[in-house]
Amino acid sequence: PKVRQAMDRIDEGLSRGRIPAEVFGNPDIYQAELRRIFGRAWVFMAHESEIEANGDYVVRKIGEDSFVVTRDEHGQIHVLFDACRHRGVQICRADSGNSSHFRCPYHGWTYSSDGSLVGAPLWKNALSGMKKENSGLAKAAQVESFHGLIFATLDPTAPPLRTYLGGMAWYLDLVFGLDKDGVEVLGAPQRFVVDANWKSGADNFSGDDYHLGTLHKSVWSIGAFPVPFSENMMGYHIQASPGHSLSFSMAEYADEPGPNFFGFPESIAEHFDSVNISPEQLEVARRSRVFVGNVFPNFSILALPMTEDGANHAPTGILTIRTWQPKGPGQIEIWNWFVGYKNMTPEQKERTYHAALGTFSLGGSFEMDDTEPWLTVTRTGGSVAGELLGFELNYEMGMPGIGMATPVSDWPGPGKVYWTRYEEGVQRNLYQFYADMMRSEPGEWPEFEF
Ligand code: FES
Ligand code: FE
Repeated sequence: PKVRQAMDRIDEGLSRGRIPAEVFGNPDIYQAELRRIFGRAWVFMAHESEIEANGDYVVRKIGEDSFVVTRDEHGQIHVLFDACRHRGVQICRADSGNSSHFRCPYHGWTYSSDGSLVGAPLWKNALSGMKKENSGLAKAAQVESFHGLIFATLDPTAPPLRTYLGGMAWYLDLVFGLDKDGVEVLGAPQRFVVDANWKSGADNFSGDDYHLGTLHKSVWSIGAFPVPFSENMMGYHIQASPGHSLSFSMAEYADEPGPNFFGFPESIAEHFDSVNISPEQLEVARRSRVFVGNVFPNFSILALPMTEDGANHAPTGILTIRTWQPKGPGQIEIWNWFVGYKNMTPEQKERTYHAALGTFSLGGSFEMDDTEPWLTVTRTGGSVAGELLGFELNYEMGMPGIGMATPVSDWPGPGKVYWTRYEEGVQRNLYQFYADMMRSEPGEWPEFEF
């Protein structure tokens, strides 16, 4: 009931553009999130290029629970609960690898990479007569891919992935479908632990462009981002569908032309075409300088021009995908993948990798700025003072009469669209769906509006 009351407070507060700070630090709310959000939503697991060969696997999480994402001997992908059917022991002790089988270290039950039980030691004496069929590893309720991005949900009643993505699919298309052969991850993901709540990451990547001029001022001053701040704010905020939000900066408002296509140079952009996407999607990608977005709950995407080291190199486009992996109300593990288009040359891939590494990575110039303030959001959210004072956070930017953001009606894509990025409806969209999910019972999905 306490959680329910907090969600009612969010719902009521959102109509005034306010959110109770406690959602960023209250342990009861966090426990409810593990069931009601991470136990039900489609959660990003891996990209198919991470498990290209049969037998490849990676270990990933849904909420705080481990799953082994495998490609079996027939090329099929499975998301297997990392727990032996016998006594629940963790069966996979590596982060990634290639194996046709997983053998439990306790008594030696052995499973194939599709999760089925294939044998156990001393079978005849110990287990003859037991049916193997219903003693395989447990699996995620549903698994689906979109542009090679593998998602899973623990809820058999969750709508299909494409329905869940709603209007966001149109925007994922125009990032991941630009190259007719798609994308691939460039190396293993970076992982680092930050004492922050997972929603601070989702909130930021839903389109918190307002922080750029203050928090990242130093990055601008060394020339790592090749677009002036005020020009960069010229673009669109889009509530693609309930929960999923994104933000574009558009190239056409620059004093000097370009960069287009998120800063990927002409030698790469010449391979972009509308084989897999519509001409309208290709045109929006061409006009775009920055794309940043979040698929509810914790999967974020960022594409933009960056230089490798300050002003000494010409900018190139970078594309990163990431998850804000919850590890408690006040901790996340950030998983950060660098992504390239398949048809880029090895030199182009190396260049985009270095530019991403120097900016949006553990030691990157942008990343180090962002994580520090999130620590203190969590502290505020879990504070006694915040609770006693009923402390609310302000998300009023872009509400009627607040600021200059205006609704846009002639935009070619789906969703509610606002012009200029001085706008916080993208975050209100995140928290509205969050509150709706937290208040609804498993099996009763909140209604999708578009
Ligand atoms: Fe795995 Fe016994 S717990 S074989
Ligand atoms: Fe930032």
